[in-house]
Amino acid sequence: MEIKTVSVGPITNFYAVVENGKTMLIDTGCYLNQPGWTLKTIMSGIDLSTVSLIVLTHGHMDHAGGIHHAKTITGAPVMAHPGCETFLNSGKFTWYIPRNELGQAFYDNIAAPAPVDVPEPVAIDIPVTEETDLHPYGFSGKVILTPGHTLDAISVVMDSGECFVGDTVLDPFGEGICTFAVLSLDNEALKESGQKLLDAGLKCAYSGHGGPFTRAQVEEAFFNLKDHNG
Ligand SMILES: [Fe+2]
Repeated sequence: MEIKTVSVGPITNFYAVVENGKTMLIDTGCYLNQPGWTLKTIMSGIDLSTVSLIVLTHGHMDHAGGIHHAKTITGAPVMAHPGCETFLNSGKFTWYIPRNELGQAFYDNIAAPAPVDVPEPVAIDIPVTEETDLHPYGFSGKVILTPGHTLDAISVVMDSGECFVGDTVLDPFGEGICTFAVLSLDNEALKESGQKLLDAGLKCAYSGHGGPFTRAQVEEAFFNLKDHNG
């Protein structure tokens, strides 16, 4: 298995997992249909003809904005929680509920989320509403539900312990920290999701922003989340 990180802007990542000649995209980056930001350009190290599955960790612009472009180019099916449909149909999304001081600082430093210009709605081909085995799709892992940051958040857990967590764990300002989501729609669910990721055997967390993070970093972040809302 090979993991390729695709950087979109200074601190936003999405990922390609290559296994036995097949590629799974995990997220598709920001809205890409603008000069110099095509999927082909930013994914120049990846054979797009081998992409057989696209997993969206949640329906936020910086994670799923490139989905129309990615699906058009690759023809791969889209796996996501049905809660992503609003974004995929309209480009509208909600992400502004700060969980703590860091979240408030983040909130104060970002612009209001304008809806993304969706060229046309993108269908979810494989809706995920429960833990889903990825082996039938050719990848040695599973998808688990990890709500909290958003209610449609899912994570990919590889059998080897590499986890792709979207914004469930992140470094919001690119300053080398590791924290659980600082913007959260359900704090209790976020704690349960953190426990679930650790119980699933997380060894390394690949995030939408910053990282990757070691298990020790995630454990410390989880302790801070659970006991101090940190
Ligand atoms: Fe997000």
